[in-house]
Amino acid sequence: MIQTIRGFRDILPEDTPLWQAIESCASKLFENFGFKEIRIPIMEKTELFARSIGETTDIVEKEMYTFPDRKGDKLTLRPEATASVVRAFIQHSMGASDSVQKLYTIGPMFRRERPQKGRYRQFYQINAEVFGIASPYIDAQLILILNELFKRLGLSELEAHINSLGCKECRPNFQKELLTFLQDKKEQLCENCLRRMDKNPLRTLDCKVPDCREALKDAPSTLNHLCSGCQDHFETVKSVLTEQGVDFIVDKTLVRGLDYYSKTTFEILTTALGAQSAVAGGGRYDALIKELGGDETYGIGFAIGLDRLAEIVAQMINSNAQEDAKAQTSKAHFLELMHSNSPDIFIIPLGDKAIRLAYMWTSALNIAGIKTETDYSGRSLKSLMKRADKLNAQYVLIAGDKEIEDNALVLRNMGTKEQYFVTTDNPVEQVETLLNRV
Ligand code: HAM
Repeated sequence: MIQTIRGFRDILPEDTPLWQAIESCASKLFENFGFKEIRIPIMEKTELFARSIGETTDIVEKEMYTFPDRKGDKLTLRPEATASVVRAFIQHSMGASDSVQKLYTIGPMFRRERPQKGRYRQFYQINAEVFGIASPYIDAQLILILNELFKRLGLSELEAHINSLGCKECRPNFQKELLTFLQDKKEQLCENCLRRMDKNPLRTLDCKVPDCREALKDAPSTLNHLCSGCQDHFETVKSVLTEQGVDFIVDKTLVRGLDYYSKTTFEILTTALGAQSAVAGGGRYDALIKELGGDETYGIGFAIGLDRLAEIVAQMINSNAQEDAKAQTSKAHFLELMHSNSPDIFIIPLGDKAIRLAYMWTSALNIAGIKTETDYSGRSLKSLMKRADKLNAQYVLIAGDKEIEDNALVLRNMGTKEQYFVTTDNPVEQVETLLNRV
């Protein structure tokens, strides 16, 4: 049998209600904050990612799905969305119609990493990007939005880490000092770090090899080298977050795995998936738009890992831990969303005539917005009652040939066992009234 490729997977129907609930929660929240949706292609010219994410990053060096198309053009399945959103912003001169653009996009990304829990080769991201705002208030607001989203999803065990990487004014000084530090540690560094050291010393701070981590634990911090502009910017972000009651940890090791960042960077971390891993990450990229051929424009954004988020929300729903009232409410809310696919009514047709009517009514009720299912197999009342139970139907509508003849169908509430009679003429209207759907 042909199976999915390693690191790729199906999101099955039992899981999609949760995914949909998270996506709709995020898009509602984004829209409240003035974001509009953009949809971008899944494939781009390789050069777009190489130039924006950076030639010496893990993503570009070893994780991209890159191949020549039939004409020899070098194409890549997108490993992230920011580069494409920036490309779209420039290509469509979006800044000309409104100098501030707030955009979000949801979809699959591709990185050839080693698969493990919470890490896939096709994974999904919810992305938000803001163009044209220099103010640190927007940095704080994006972190606030993430915080609010996680709160709405009932998640509390998350840690926001923030850092500042400085700008083109102050970064060179820092890099010089880092390089001097690295020269002394050469013996302890992995081959990758040694190779990247001169080209892009900041990348060594992102190395996951334990020996490198150990060697770099006292590495100089960007935070000690910020120019006064970057310093003020970072202070404002922190003080605004504090005033809004958003907890955060200043983490001088947070350099992120992509090269385009300047000033504020942030990640939301969880331990719920085993070793500490990021559920979301982002930051400012004030130089990227110009770098990709656009006018000088401020940029900042984040991406949430939807696979990871869905996994921790599912864990929360399934956990039996002692919960406070708030956690119980979000759990109930999610269970409701996840069962929202159950039919309102299951029509039980008994006899040939009834099956034809059941088909007609099912169609009419579904069109009227009342979720209705039926069964065409001619099975017994007992077995169809079982089926209604399995589907978690709220009501059954029993339509035997006799009920049709007597013009009195039975609508039974599966929970309370209350029964109503419905005549055969215009059952949709009657059902709508009985279910309070008018
Ligand atoms: P990133 O940190 O590379 O940032 O990815 C963001 C999130 O995507 C991660 O925190 C993680 O939750 C999820 N993720 C990444 N790789 C995988 C994987 N292999 N399997 C499952 N989930 C994964 C970016 O992609 C930037 N474009 C974020 C950004 C937007 N910065 C500014 N704007």
